[in-house]
Amino acid sequence: MATKSVLLIIGGGIAAYKSLELIRECAKRGIRTRAILTRAGAEFVTPLSVGSLTGEKCYTDLFDLTDEAEMGHIELSRAADLVVVAPATADLLSKPANGVAGDLASTALLATDKPVLFAPAMNVRMWAHPGVQRNVATLKEDGALFVGPNEGDMACGEYGAGRMAEPSEIADAVEAYFAASSDGRLKGRHVVVTAGPTHEPLDPVRYIANRSSGKQGYAIAAALAKLGARVTLVSGPTELPAPAGVDTVRVQTAREMMEATMSALPADAAICCAAVADYRPEIETNQKIKKERGGLSSIPLTENPDILRSISSLDVGRPGLVIGFAAETDDVLCNAEAKRKRKGCDWIIANDVSSGTGTMGGENNSVTVISEAGQESWENMPKARVADRLAAYIADALSKRAT
Ligand code: CTP
Repeated sequence: MATKSVLLIIGGGIAAYKSLELIRECAKRGIRTRAILTRAGAEFVTPLSVGSLTGEKCYTDLFDLTDEAEMGHIELSRAADLVVVAPATADLLSKPANGVAGDLASTALLATDKPVLFAPAMNVRMWAHPGVQRNVATLKEDGALFVGPNEGDMACGEYGAGRMAEPSEIADAVEAYFAASSDGRLKGRHVVVTAGPTHEPLDPVRYIANRSSGKQGYAIAAALAKLGARVTLVSGPTELPAPAGVDTVRVQTAREMMEATMSALPADAAICCAAVADYRPEIETNQKIKKERGGLSSIPLTENPDILRSISSLDVGRPGLVIGFAAETDDVLCNAEAKRKRKGCDWIIANDVSSGTGTMGGENNSVTVISEAGQESWENMPKARVADRLAAYIADALSKRAT
């Protein structure tokens, strides 16, 4: 049974015929392929041949409502482990580089949360064109992977760089990506992650909460698991599905989160990503508070336990690396560094949640990693990429501590 899968986007170029071979090459290596064939691609190969080789429906048009009912284009873009564009025409490179979507293929390229591997194929002069090269540079900066193009004779009669990499080379690149992404650097490690908001009940129907979506914490848990760690995710109430391969413990309140986190220890690292409510109503009533019985003019609050501080100050069984988050609205870096010291954690990840940059609930995050050694600001990027990079940093830090 294939464990990894690829979404193959076949663009409109003469090299499209080689993509049929690529599907077979992937199958030989135990990689399942599902394909999107662009309108131009369908001038070179047919949906029938693509569908026969993948053994799956070949997706061709964004507005095919039957397809949407079966599998929406967003789900299609995310169901695979890797997106491969082969042949990647100048047009297919330009759309994601410029945030443009017009058809199923370009929409999938913007909607995916997976890395994209491009195998460009075009005329030598087109490939050398500064506009194309600019788009390639942008895509690389955004984290895209490339294989080829190779140099050689071209279908148009010219010679030079622009030939699509051979199917076996593309399949090698796919395999290399899968090997690198599950290189097991955190194998044998246990990491505890807290995520999401907490709900602090006032009565059976009301609670105090915050805007945390849990997306960043879930992405971190998934990224750590990808590197081979055993991950316990202690999550407050969120809409998110449990990440694959992660032991997810669902809680409601700060006190429950504290208890679940502490009982998940020992761990090599703890990452407190949750937006824990600092306070809870002093009294929780079992009956709904009614206006006619006097209602409420104020809610007496009492402080919740601080999970991050408690883990950081453990004398026995403190994880080797404790990481906190600091969502701040002003004086972000100063406040975050003060918070790191106050809480006693090793690193703090600062992010600006003031309106305008607002990252709470969003797909992207701009963070600065602060440690004793200094500060490092990362460009704005999808939360999944923040998570991958952070997981790689954690793997590095733990391996250094071990030696
Ligand atoms: N945190 C925690 N338990 C709490 C409160 C916060 O574990 N009861 C953790 C969060 O998960 C985060 C870090 O502490 O990693 C900072 O959270 P934040 O709410 O910014 O800190 P506070 O101490 O609540 O400071 P502030 O006064 O800015 O709210």
